[in-house]
Amino acid sequence: MTGIVEGDSMEVIEDVKQGQNNCIDAVNIHVEVHVKSHSTAKREDVKLHVLALLNRHRIVFGNYSWTEFDEEFLAKHVESVSIVDAERQQIDLRSCCLSMYIFTLHDDGPSTLNLEEAEDLSAAHHWLLPSAEFHGIWESLVYENGVKTQLLDYVSTMIFFSDKNVDSNLVAWNRVVLLHGPPGTGKTSLCKALAQKLSIRLLNRYSYSQFVEINSHSLFSKWFSESGKLVTKMFQKIQQLIDDKETLVFVLVDEVESLTAARNAAQAGTEPSDAIRVVNAVLTQLDQIKRHSNVVILTTSNVTEKIDLAFVDRADIKQYIGPPSTDAIFNIYLSCLEELMKCQIIYPRQQLLTMYELETMGFQESNVSERSLAVQKIAAKSRGFSGRALRKIPFLAHALFVKTPKVTLERFLQAMDQAVSQQIEEKANLVNCV
Ligand SMILES: Nc1ncnc2c1ncn2[C@@H]1O[C@H](COP(=O)(O)OP(=O)(O)O)[C@@H](O)[C@H]1O
Ligand SMILES: [Mg+2]
Repeated sequence: MTGIVEGDSMEVIEDVKQGQNNCIDAVNIHVEVHVKSHSTAKREDVKLHVLALLNRHRIVFGNYSWTEFDEEFLAKHVESVSIVDAERQQIDLRSCCLSMYIFTLHDDGPSTLNLEEAEDLSAAHHWLLPSAEFHGIWESLVYENGVKTQLLDYVSTMIFFSDKNVDSNLVAWNRVVLLHGPPGTGKTSLCKALAQKLSIRLLNRYSYSQFVEINSHSLFSKWFSESGKLVTKMFQKIQQLIDDKETLVFVLVDEVESLTAARNAAQAGTEPSDAIRVVNAVLTQLDQIKRHSNVVILTTSNVTEKIDLAFVDRADIKQYIGPPSTDAIFNIYLSCLEELMKCQIIYPRQQLLTMYELETMGFQESNVSERSLAVQKIAAKSRGFSGRALRKIPFLAHALFVKTPKVTLERFLQAMDQAVSQQIEEKANLVNCV
């Protein structure tokens, strides 16, 4: 029997209504149902059809996604049904507790929060969540040791405590997250993915969410001479969003190290004291908005040491995000290769094994495992590359070493290996130059 929890409200089907709530100890499985944007189907109907689908399948193994449906209703209204963020284990869909999230995506791109009508000053970018642009980012980011789920759990608890008005003088917590680590490790993307995920999870609590991205770097380059006045104006706009209590507002202050750098420079006397005023205005404004229960502040820093204490102290959750491990690199490469096979640039399609499958086979070389083992070798050689650098390797491989429109997987893997060598060489040259 399946208990259903839709969003965070206890909307349940029969057996639970009868008081046998098996959701208390049962494994909780999250099911995201992406409804087509033109669909006018009632949520209740979508839910019933998805339940029927899940009951027909009954057993799945870890995360699983359906994108094609035999059944007419689902084919007409639903883009995908996905079991997400599950442990890699056998799941009996009839005996677990399901949380179902039914959503459509907003497909208008970012709007800019302009401050002066006449001037071209884009203070920040602004998205309505869940947004088509952020779709798939969560899945594309590969980290070790459940970093993503841990962050998701942290931020969910933050929002839950806010909603319950837990007194933060008694139980210490706040609404600021700091992700720090080298550039290109996916921090900005992770903030977007987190917000998107939460906007879907909390659809029943907040009918929609907003995402405001403040780029600290451009904040300084554009507004330097205007000092703190424009910062205040920008936050006034954000405050207007927050005033709608039906919306959850994520504010991303990206690359806070540029604020710190400006402040340090000002203290050393190499920049006008305007910089201090701007930084202080940002900090004061952040303190103001974080008082509201429907706000989550996400910050990132590309430097790990010497992050401005003002930011470190404000953050409740500080998470270091480093370069991917060999296994994570393998998974990143796998996703790139799958994509190129899907687009038929690598042709014909060949099966690649997952790390889990390779492990189960004891990394034995065979006809089946040969190509996957080659990917693993390239992954090992690419250690130390950032996620951003890794995702460029297949492109470089094609541009530099493949001269034909279609290429076999074997040949492409050679090209990737060459591209990795070339990148390592280039890195070494750069180091030698310094
Ligand atoms: N751990 C990772 N797994 C998968 N892709 C990654 C990872 N880290 C970075 N990337 C890729 O690199 C790109 C740049 O990431 P970004 O979020 O801008 O990094 P940062 O903000 O840390 O500089 C992303 O679009 C993403 O595709
Ligand atoms: Mg970034």
